[in-house]
Amino acid sequence: MAAGRLAGKVALVTGSGSGIGRGVARLFAREAARVAVVDVKPEGGTETVELIEKEDREAIFVQANVLNPAQMKAAVAQIVGTFGAIHILHNNAGGWQREAHDTVLEDSEEEWDRLTDLNLKSVYVVSREVLPHMIKQGGGAIVNTITINAFLTQPGTAAYSAAKAGAFQLTKAMALDYAKYHVRVNGIAPGEIHTPLWNSTYDNLPNSNEVKQSVLNRIPLGRFGEPEDVAFPALWLASDEARYITGQIITVDGGISAGVYP
Ligand SMILES: NC(=O)c1ccc[n+]([C@@H]2O[C@H](COP(=O)([O-])OP(=O)(O)OC[C@H]3O[C@@H](n4cnc5c(N)ncnc54)[C@H](O)[C@@H]3O)[C@@H](O)[C@H]2O)c1
Repeated sequence: MAAGRLAGKVALVTGSGSGIGRGVARLFAREAARVAVVDVKPEGGTETVELIEKEDREAIFVQANVLNPAQMKAAVAQIVGTFGAIHILHNNAGGWQREAHDTVLEDSEEEWDRLTDLNLKSVYVVSREVLPHMIKQGGGAIVNTITINAFLTQPGTAAYSAAKAGAFQLTKAMALDYAKYHVRVNGIAPGEIHTPLWNSTYDNLPNSNEVKQSVLNRIPLGRFGEPEDVAFPALWLASDEARYITGQIITVDGGISAGVYP
């Protein structure tokens, strides 16, 4: 067995065909976990697996939509069939509306449902399939990707922020409900992280560079985050090093939320 902080573990990472999820999947694999890369898009997912295999680590791609219960049931069965267990679940798939028109008056009911389902219901849909396996095998670790918008929101992100605030509290509720089965449930709240989703949001704006600079001015550590900045705390929360920690959300935002003024 390869040496590493996750040696012997199997990890399922949703939305790992891109951005933060890819960074997490790659780091988990480097730390010797066998990784199930779950994504709705095959191109990104298979690319993540190739990147992991290039480093002589083990991963499989499983195409599934985190909002489709039947697909998730089949995906979890396939992963358990291949690797024998799931010790770590990272509920990471999610996203916002790039145009920042996510307001009560501008969101259609379909858009509201899409954003709340993607960022909140998906945690329920996927966890519901994985928890029975964790309970049966005597424990596990779940990490949910939330966002600082859950407690420090911004204009044009109404459904997204509300859903992630729900995921914040769902993390704590699940931690309480499943502690007796030795399943720990924690979350990560990223700030401004360079990912394809993040880039496309800013690139969509007419005054992209100006907006980026004003956001940058608010980050005490003086730079935007990278997927690896989120992956390292996720690794720690998923590992046995965090064995006495559950129901906690770690903010990974370069200090944005530490105070009101930069
Ligand atoms: N990038 C940031 O600055 C930032 C900040 C805070 C929180 N987040 C959160 O981090 C997570 C990842 O964001 P990212 O920036 O890496 O985005 P990204 O778009 O780069 O990657 C998201 C991945 O999720 C996949 N995905 C989307 N919907 C899916 C579905 N229904 N089923 C399965 N897979 C699906 C996409 O195909 C994509 O590969 C999201 O939950 C997002 O809300 C990101």
